[in-house]
Amino acid sequence: MFDHGKLEKNSILMLVGILIVVSIGGLVEIAPLFYLESTIEKVKGMRPYTPLELAGRNIYIREGCYNCHSQMVRPFRDEVERYGHYSLAAESMYDHPFQWGSKRTGPDLARVGGKYSDEWHSTHLIDPRSLVPESVMPGYPFLAKTPLKYTDIAKHLETNRMVGVPYDDAMIEAAKADLEAQVNPDADGVEAMQERYPGAQARNFDGQPGKPTEMDALISYLQVLGTMVDFSSYKAEENYR
Ligand code: HEC
Repeated sequence: MFDHGKLEKNSILMLVGILIVVSIGGLVEIAPLFYLESTIEKVKGMRPYTPLELAGRNIYIREGCYNCHSQMVRPFRDEVERYGHYSLAAESMYDHPFQWGSKRTGPDLARVGGKYSDEWHSTHLIDPRSLVPESVMPGYPFLAKTPLKYTDIAKHLETNRMVGVPYDDAMIEAAKADLEAQVNPDADGVEAMQERYPGAQARNFDGQPGKPTEMDALISYLQVLGTMVDFSSYKAEENYR
């Protein structure tokens, strides 16, 4: 039989033994990951952001909304009762960088899409205290007055494609036109835009006539958050087969 006493009395031998055992454990855990294409299961309904939503997301990041808001509903009863279905990994698979956040001064926004009207959002973003008197959220009145800069929007799509978001050539080519179509529900390009981005909503999000503003982009982004997956038909088990 193996002389265990020798192993326990000789620290070098013990160290080598530990290394062997730990590396076997490590290999068993890590090696299979090299053979998986992705550790995120695909979920029906997930699509890349439209150019307008992506522009809104850029504003969300620029303004540091993530300093006060998280975008991840944790799988705990209190969170699920307050915010809705817990977040799935797939729901942030096209987020580069992700917006899970680490602090909640305000509520989680992962499922805020469709919770309020566009008008509520624009009034709230201009002056939060006009709707929620005790709010400590800063106002962002300039968003409604600032025309959206989107001459480089195709480049933003391309950059996202580089890190794995499935934007195809047609989407990149039409990025500018799709952005303009989404804020103008009467435009000719709306149908083509919705074909590329199923379920995308085309509206005048900021309620003001004229060119797209930063407010249009940000509200379009807020309104899509957490709405891509249809949880009335979603079954977790189907995704774990
Ligand atoms: C200083 C912290 C802070 C920052 C920064 C901040 N918020 Fe808030 N936000 C709050 C607080 C607190 C509330 C809850 C009170 C209220 O509704 O105003 C809130 C509420 C909200 C709500 C309503 C959520 C709900 O479910 O009722 C939305 C939407 C929102 N914020 C969006 C944003 C966006 C977009 C930005 C960036 C442009 C932003 N917030 C920046 C603190 C912040």
